[in-house]
Amino acid sequence: MSWLRENTLNWIQYVCLKVVKSGGVPNHVAFIMDGNRRFAKKNNVAKVEGHTKGFDKLAETLQWCLDLGIPEVTVYAFSIENFKRSTEEVNELMDLARDKFKRLLDEREKLMDHGVSVRVIGNLALLPEDLRQLMSEAMILTKDNNKAFLNIAFAYTSRDEITSAIKSLVAGVEKKIILPEDISKHVISQCLYTNKSPNPDLLIRTSGEIRLSDFLLWQTSSTCVYFSKVLWPEFSVWHMLTAVFHYQRNRQNIVRLKNFEESCSLESCSLENHQVDLFLEDLHSQRQMFMEKARQGIA
Ligand code: FPP
Ligand code: MG
Repeated sequence: MSWLRENTLNWIQYVCLKVVKSGGVPNHVAFIMDGNRRFAKKNNVAKVEGHTKGFDKLAETLQWCLDLGIPEVTVYAFSIENFKRSTEEVNELMDLARDKFKRLLDEREKLMDHGVSVRVIGNLALLPEDLRQLMSEAMILTKDNNKAFLNIAFAYTSRDEITSAIKSLVAGVEKKIILPEDISKHVISQCLYTNKSPNPDLLIRTSGEIRLSDFLLWQTSSTCVYFSKVLWPEFSVWHMLTAVFHYQRNRQNIVRLKNFEESCSLESCSLENHQVDLFLEDLHSQRQMFMEKARQGIA
């Protein structure tokens, strides 16, 4: 199935979507798409079928987000912990990702028409070279698009992301590019894989689990969280609208908290610091170079 689907809503769903939309929607929604294997078991099909249905649901959900006017989505597609699953399942998930990224590149025109920027966040060095190549190609191709943003967390955990940020900062201090006192919440945020994105306003987890499972831990300090019992492949537009409604009911408090956090973080980074700017520029260009090398198959 394609990443961008035609509208699948009936008129009642469409009207309800418009009503919810008029109440104000989050700018950035994150998803923990959980429950694919339980769905497979429930329907007596192979695990890989559950994951494939999970991808189809992702494509459908992205269309609902576009219809709702939500410009940024981040999805947890493969955690570093998932490498501990059976070799068979890991290989099937890698094959699914290969297949979908090839499809995404085949559909490049559609993606460019919609102005979608695709970013894979995670420790890409842990992935097979050919998959890293496909992902890098998709990221480089769409990097200047700015109408919608799709962040795919793959070989990701939040603690790995924070560890990598700390290592970069320590290296910066050791090389005397920055001073220990230059390190602030703002600078740490800028070292994360998510440095280009605002923090999510709403995080949705399916399947009845009520944990964050090492997903965006730094970025969700003032995010509205919505847990749903539905298994991810069974997630429907009604669940989506209910989650957005949950956000709308809690928005006032969240916005207040966010504004407060932002003002504190601005205070801590209000002094111009040329050295820090240079350090961050260098870090981001190193990552860009890694991506370019990965695209050429030499990283
Ligand atoms: C969690 O369900 C889901 C995953 C580990 C994989 C999610 C992947 C997709 C939805 C496909 C996305 C693919 C791309 C290329 C973006 P689970 O396996 O933990 O199921 P369970 O909780 O029932 O055991
Ligand atoms: Mg699970």
